[in-house]
Amino acid sequence: MTQDISFKDKVVIITGAGGGLGKQYALRFAERGAKVVVNDLGGSLSGSGNSTKAADVVVEEIKSKGGTAVSNYDNVVTNAEGILKTAVDNFGTVHVLINNAGILKDASFKKMTEKQFTDVLDVHLNGSFRLTKACWPYFKKQNYGRIIMTASPAGLYGNFGQANYSAAKLALVGFGETLAKEGYKNNIKVNAIAPLAKSRMTETIMPPDILERLLPQKISPLVLFLTSDQCPTTGSIYEVAAGLFAQIRWERSGGLYLRPDNTLTPEAILNRFKDISDFTKPGVQHPVQLNDYNQVWTVTSKLPSNDQGNTKIDSLKGK
Ligand code: NAI
Repeated sequence: MTQDISFKDKVVIITGAGGGLGKQYALRFAERGAKVVVNDLGGSLSGSGNSTKAADVVVEEIKSKGGTAVSNYDNVVTNAEGILKTAVDNFGTVHVLINNAGILKDASFKKMTEKQFTDVLDVHLNGSFRLTKACWPYFKKQNYGRIIMTASPAGLYGNFGQANYSAAKLALVGFGETLAKEGYKNNIKVNAIAPLAKSRMTETIMPPDILERLLPQKISPLVLFLTSDQCPTTGSIYEVAAGLFAQIRWERSGGLYLRPDNTLTPEAILNRFKDISDFTKPGVQHPVQLNDYNQVWTVTSKLPSNDQGNTKIDSLKGK
């Protein structure tokens, strides 16, 4: 029998929840009983200006349906503590943090200014850092926390004109992977999503028929699942778009072993480069931590100490 996913008595902070994906999350969490802090600066796509309206409209909609929510208008970059304070003052603590607020300042790398680069890193990466840092002691003390880092396909694969955004988005993956390890024993689960959805971020760059398949309602089920009591995973990355939910993982090829004799040269790599990039040969791995090097130790320990390059290393792989 499937269990219902409930957020009754859970306090959820969602940054950038005045529109787009964040608004969808806020409505869906509230429907399932959460007490929601709807944070939004209410600025433009590039982060300029501010308004209380964006957050207030979402809070009013939640309340009109009988839910519980409170607005917060702080900037995640300059007053993350203020966002946490709204949660603590109104609801006593925080259980779930959705790092979602974001801006775009796209430009080809040649034209990108340092300010465009650092402004985007500030909101996505430093904003997520500051609010997560503020919430962390609460998560540890209550032995419970759920965090979503909002990455992007642009971070995983790169995207023309988005060097700043890509850098910030992949940084959030590494940030989350480490917090997943540090939070494990305190039941703090941290996962990253790389969504694609219709919002003001995408509506000018994608054709209308595609956008209609990318409704933000199709992202929220995964976010609720990953932040539920039942969430079975941490430190994972998921791509989510148009109803597709798929995990992304790291893959290391079986690789090329060179010995500390005259085969350990750049020319040896030139000659056998295709072996380094071959994901079909034995020894392919999906590492999840820094010391996932068993394959390396296994193979090299089987080489005779006086090996002169005669042992066939490929025959030792996968053993
Ligand atoms: P959106 O522009 O509708 O939502 C972002 C919200 O963040 C806005 O309401 C904005 O006012 C708020 N915000 C911006 N800076 C803020 C700050 N300093 N403090 C507080 N609030 C701030 O865009 P969308 O699409 O809903 O984006 C949500 C998240 O999803 C972002 O992190 C974005 O990078 C990410 N994402 C979206 C994709 C898409 O296809 N829409 C693709 C990949 C990632």
